[in-house]
Amino acid sequence: MENILVTGGTGYIGSHTVLELLNGGYGVVVLDNLCNSSEESLERVKRLTGKDAKFYKGDIRNAADLDGIFKENKIDAVIHFAGLKAVGESVRLPLAYYDNNVTGTLVLLESMKRAGVHKIIFSSSATVYGVPERLPLTEDCALSAINPYGATKLVIEGILTDLQRAEPDWNVMLLRYFNPVGAHESGEIGEDPKGIPNNLMPFIAQVAAGRREKLLVYGNDYPTPDGTGVRDYIHVVDLAKGHVAALKGYKDPGVHICNLGTGKGYSVLEMVHAFERACGKKIPYEIVGRRAGDAAACYASAQKAFDDLGWKAELGIDEMCSSAWKWQKNNPDGYAKHN
Ligand code: NAD
Ligand code: UD1
Repeated sequence: MENILVTGGTGYIGSHTVLELLNGGYGVVVLDNLCNSSEESLERVKRLTGKDAKFYKGDIRNAADLDGIFKENKIDAVIHFAGLKAVGESVRLPLAYYDNNVTGTLVLLESMKRAGVHKIIFSSSATVYGVPERLPLTEDCALSAINPYGATKLVIEGILTDLQRAEPDWNVMLLRYFNPVGAHESGEIGEDPKGIPNNLMPFIAQVAAGRREKLLVYGNDYPTPDGTGVRDYIHVVDLAKGHVAALKGYKDPGVHICNLGTGKGYSVLEMVHAFERACGKKIPYEIVGRRAGDAAACYASAQKAFDDLGWKAELGIDEMCSSAWKWQKNNPDGYAKHN
């Protein structure tokens, strides 16, 4: 059995990936400092899979935490989710973002080197494409950073690429996620944003639940079919399965770069209407001005993922919305009451 260390494994994408790994027969060790998550997610994963992930509360910036894990467990590969991810916050607190994301990754890589573990999947993001050069986005499109969060992703991609060039036995997988949404079909695990959600889907879900009065739609004058922004929303369960496919598919050393998206874009209003179908309620919204830094449209070419890994997203917009609604309805305060 292969053992995978999952940093950030109690978080949104991490917990769904831990579930798929356990179901796929992998052993799982999780390291998380719980700065944006709850250990309760792993309890739920245990209930759903009947299997246990070993949990360490600790920080990727702390070499002793990492060295201890590699000493106590035989680890074959690392899936590295841990990091901070709020774009607006990264503009206000750039040092915290460089420290957590970049320093944290350096400390992790040094510890992996000491332990002789040379296989890593890194959570990159479509944000590395900056303002899209052309659509759909292929992996060879131009890269740029338009905020500190995006800059940390670009820097880390560069660090991993340089490391692999210097030490060719490393297997580095850079997975660029588009817009992960939805939840496990059980409604037991899902996205649990703290405070006012920045992203569209959790905001809509909280409007549907009556926690927020209305959605503000940021602009309806984009050159898109209905004027609102278009994005490539991907069901988090498909995304989680993409990690298992990468572990199985990218066997050889090298730098493997791969988009994880559906290849299809939906507008803000299409998402609103799909959510209305899922929850059976009207979602009040108001059109306001554009959000600074937003692109009109952003969607992936999903061809390389299919060619390299035989992976493609299976779940559609209705499953994304119905699972997000089930999670929201069953857990109106997320994991909060369990902390
Ligand atoms: P999340 O906040 O739910 O998960 C991140 C986890 O990392 C949290 O559990 C947090 O407690 C932990 N963490 C943060 N800093 C840490 C540290 N220094 N040491 C140990 N643990 C730490 O976020 P998510 O949506 O699951 O995202 C996971 C990864 O995917 C992130 O790297 C994010 O940048 C990337 N990503 C996310 C999206 C998205 O829209 N959700 C899109 C593209 C890429
Ligand atoms: C966000 C991040 C991006 C990250 C991506 C992946 C920002 C600025 N960018 O981008 O770095 O890679 O998630 O998940 O946060 N919208 C509204 N009203 C809202 C919220 C959003 O109209 O209250 C619109 C946006 O203008 C956009 C769409 O909904 O057109 C999606 O927004 P969001 O969920 O924030 O994702 P991204 O903008 O793609």
